[in-house]
Order: sequence, then C-alpha cells, then structure tokens
Amino acid sequence: MLWRGGHPVATAPKGTSVTERMGGNDSADQEGWWRNAAIYQIYVRSFADANGDGTGDLEGVRSRLAYLKALGVDAIWYTPWYLSPLADGGYDVADYRAIDPQFGDLGSAERLIAEANELGIRTIIDVVPNHVSNEHEWFQAALAAEPGSPERARFIFHPGKGENGNEIPTNWVSDFQGTTWTRTTNPDGTAGEWYLHLFTPEQPDLNWRNPEVIQEHLDILKFWFDRGAAGIRIDSAALPVKDPTFPEVPADLSTQPHPYVARPELHNIYRGWRMLADSYDPPRVLVGEVWLPDLDEFAKFLRPDEMHTAFNFDFMSRPWDAAQMRTSITHTLNAHEPIGAPATWVLSNHDITRPVTRYGRRDSSFSFLAKRFNTPTDLRLGTRRARAAAMITAALPGVLYVYQGDELGLPEYEDLPQDTIQDPMYFRSMKLAPGRDGCRVPLPWTVENAGNFGFSPATTEVKSWLPQPAGWSEFAVEAQEQDQDSTLNLYRHIIAERKELPDLAHGELTWLDNPQWPEHRVLAFRRGQRFASITNCADQPIALPAGATVRRASDAQPDPTMVAPDTTVWIDLA
Ligand code: BGC
Repeated sequence: MLWRGGHPVATAPKGTSVTERMGGNDSADQEGWWRNAAIYQIYVRSFADANGDGTGDLEGVRSRLAYLKALGVDAIWYTPWYLSPLADGGYDVADYRAIDPQFGDLGSAERLIAEANELGIRTIIDVVPNHVSNEHEWFQAALAAEPGSPERARFIFHPGKGENGNEIPTNWVSDFQGTTWTRTTNPDGTAGEWYLHLFTPEQPDLNWRNPEVIQEHLDILKFWFDRGAAGIRIDSAALPVKDPTFPEVPADLSTQPHPYVARPELHNIYRGWRMLADSYDPPRVLVGEVWLPDLDEFAKFLRPDEMHTAFNFDFMSRPWDAAQMRTSITHTLNAHEPIGAPATWVLSNHDITRPVTRYGRRDSSFSFLAKRFNTPTDLRLGTRRARAAAMITAALPGVLYVYQGDELGLPEYEDLPQDTIQDPMYFRSMKLAPGRDGCRVPLPWTVENAGNFGFSPATTEVKSWLPQPAGWSEFAVEAQEQDQDSTLNLYRHIIAERKELPDLAHGELTWLDNPQWPEHRVLAFRRGQRFASITNCADQPIALPAGATVRRASDAQPDPTMVAPDTTVWIDLA
C-alpha cells in the first residue's frame, strides 16, 4: 500500500497497443482459472457470526457457502484470520499458524477450505510480509534482547540521531500519518534504540535482508498451501525491502529511488515465492497488493516468474467520468499486455469508501487524504452509478473482485458513532478522518433486526462489533433475494453471464465510438464479435446503436431504444 500520494495517476507504458490478449499464448498457465475468475473478498469479522458473540467467524462463513455458490464466485479471498490483537483489523499478525480464537481454530479453517473446494470455490489467504504484530513472539524476543542481537536483526532497529539518540532515524511518514519510528526502553529504564513501523507502532516492520525472515515466509506459505489454499494475497507487496542506508525520501522520485517503495530486491523474493507456488499441483497463485503510480514499475511484479496478478486500484480511484475511466482501462490493459498477465478490476475493498457512497459525491474520485466527516453524497445517484460500474468491471477482460456487501449495494456507514470506531487511521488522523470502519460494518442477512439483521443468531442479545444502521432491512440478503431487480440479483446475473457468454469470457476489447453520442461522456466497448457494454455518463439519454438488442441494463430503461443517464447496458450488436 502506498496511500499518501492520493489516487495514483496512471502513466501510459511505452510502445504497447490497446488490446488485451486472452488465451493468445500457449504456455500452460494461459489457461489458469485465475485469469478471468470472479473473486469475493470476505472481511471475516463482518461477514457472518455463528457463535453469537457479535464478531464474524469461520463457522459463519461455512454456513453461508451456499450464498457464495449462488453468487457464482470462483474463489474467496479472506482478510487475515490469524491470531492477532486486531490493532489493525488483523493486519498485525501474532501467529501465522493459528487462527484467532474470535474467528475459530485451525480445524475450522481446514473444514472451510475443504467444503468450499467441494463447491468449486477456491481459497486465497492474506499474507502480510511487511510487518507482524508487536505481540508476535519474534518481536517480544527482540525487545528482550540486546541491540545487535540476532533477535533484533529480524526487525529494523536503529539508533536515534542527535545527542543521546533522541531524534528519529528518518522523517519517513506513515501511510497512516505520523512518524514511522518508536523508541524502545532498555531493561534499566533508559531510552534505547528505535524500531521502524511503516504503519502503527503495533506493526513492527520485518527486515527482509535477513535470510531467516525469507525462510520463515516460505514456511508460512507452505503451511497454508499444504492445507489447500489455492493462493495468497500479498499485503503491501511493494514495501517490505528498505534501503539499508536509511536516507530521507528524495524530493524528486523520478530521478532517485525511493528508500522503501518498490525496491528492486523485492523481485527475487517474489520469484522464490513463485517457485514454491509452482511446485504444487495445481500451482498456487500469487496476487499482489501493489499500489504504485508508475504502471511500468507495477508491471514488473507481474513478469511470468513473479506474481500472477495484482490489484488495479487506478480504475477504482477515478471519478464517474467516461473519459477518465477509458484512460484508466486503456493504460491498465496496455501495462498488462506485454507481459501476458490478466488485469484485475476492483471497485472497492475493506480500505475504500463504498462505491454507492463514493459515486454519489460531487467529487467521486477516491483518495485517502480527501476522506473527511460530513462529505455530502446523493445515495440514489450513487446507487445507480455503482450498479452501472459493476457492469463495467464485470464486462472487462481479466479478474473481477467483489468486496462483501457491494453485491448488496451497501452504502458506507458514515454516521458510525465515533466512540465505536476502531480503525487506527481515524486515531492517527487526530480523529479528522473517519477511517475505514464505515465499509466494514457487519452484513445484514435478514429483514428482521433480531440478531443484528441475521448477522448473528437471532437468539443473541449481543450487539455486533460495529453497530449497523437502523434502516438496513432493505439491504438484507433475504429482501434482495425476493426482488428480481435488486443489486444482489444484478450481481448474480452478471457474474453468471461473464462465464456463459463466450465473447464476454474471451473476446478482445475494442472501443466503440459513435458521432451521435456526446463526446467523452460515453464509455462503450465491444468484446469479441457481438457483445458490447455501453455506459452513459451524460445527463441525457443516448441512442443505442442501430439494430442492437439489450440483454441486460443496470436499471430500468424508460425508452428501449435509448440508454438512460448513469446506466450501463449490455447489448448484442446487429
Ligand atoms: C491493508 C490494510 C492494512 C495495511 C497494513 C493494507 O494494504 O489492506 O487494511 O491496514 O495494509 O497492513
């Protein structure tokens, strides 16, 4: 993750064309399931609570596998489920080989992986190489050991600058705001070395120049691959290696390297992971969270002997604007084309403002720094656009990610009582920014509010770990299953059609332009011979191409020959 710069600006990679190659290469992994999968992201704490303690758990997921099967997803990516003090929602791992007792135990994870597999749903787990929890036994041992000891060499301890080492070693600023160094206290009570944490002080950074750290992660991967995990999502994948001389971040990053972002040494680490993944039958898959503004650098992580895919955050960061979305799609496909890797399409995740809320804002682009309380939004408009955006991403070539609750059209819970917020981003912004909990609210399953809208068993009196807004009955799965036009049913249909329609599954993408359409206000592309997706971002209806038949629309169309504003239609061309 590299969030500080706001939304990344895609730069066009050099010398490539605007076509996406699917299946055009005869190497074995051109056929891999991960090339055009639909992958559902589960934030375990908020998906379904089976034991009634107000926190989601693995048994809760197991009890809802039929729901995921009906949604049609090929795989589930779980945010971290390991033992953790949850200082950053589980991205502070205390033990990779244990499940947090709030979520279950190793047996429940193994059962879940196996049962999902039987339904044809694969499992992707989250690995967080940049840091561990301060409660991890390695870090506890490091604190108890001397400066210069092998225990400390697994982390990044450093003497302070200035007299008595009172000054921080570098002025690197955390993605969560504030400093990245915390000072330790020696056993005799005097001030000691500092340790690096790019995120919170509860997340000490590991030292990736230490072979023990490298080996430990290969063992962790093996541990989970042996238990049937089909792949891993690599958290903050561009950050783990640091410049050992600890320079300041240079003012001009176009001519000088960054001290800790996308260091070249990372590539060999991921090559080692890929070799391990490839040694399994079937091969396991690596998905990187690579948040880089420079698409050429981004693409390096996707070379054939590194990761299989990486999240593409550029599209998600763009406003509701046809020209900007087209630029993003073009640059993304161009960056992936020369290395033969599939693109990924992501509208949100557990860190990002929900699309329904985002697309209803005056500025509908996304950036962490712009997040503030009381930013107005029009949820009716946002919902229309979010449904239309879902159809755009589902029609693009590559991998589709769906974050839990987006298929229900959930809005961000922006009025979350502030005394319930747990996200460290809120605290580290001095409570100016709401943080990320508004998109992490437990899912509503039933119309009745008993047991937190069915998130917990109806018998529980316990409130969910984050409160749900009063009016969430209308979003409940139970309500949406009955309604043919619900967002849930829209998602079910479009995920199914991605697989069923050969043009949509494999066809090349070509842009469609039409002199009758208002310039730069329509996003339209063909896939293969006959399928096309048209999105109207203008405020007037636009005409369908002559002879086209509409097979699906993101919202009801008052005039069957036109596409209404803020709507996507999928059509068969004449
Ligand atoms: C995860 C965040 C997490 C951060 C630190 C991210 O990229 O998605 O939720 O806070 O990494 O681990």
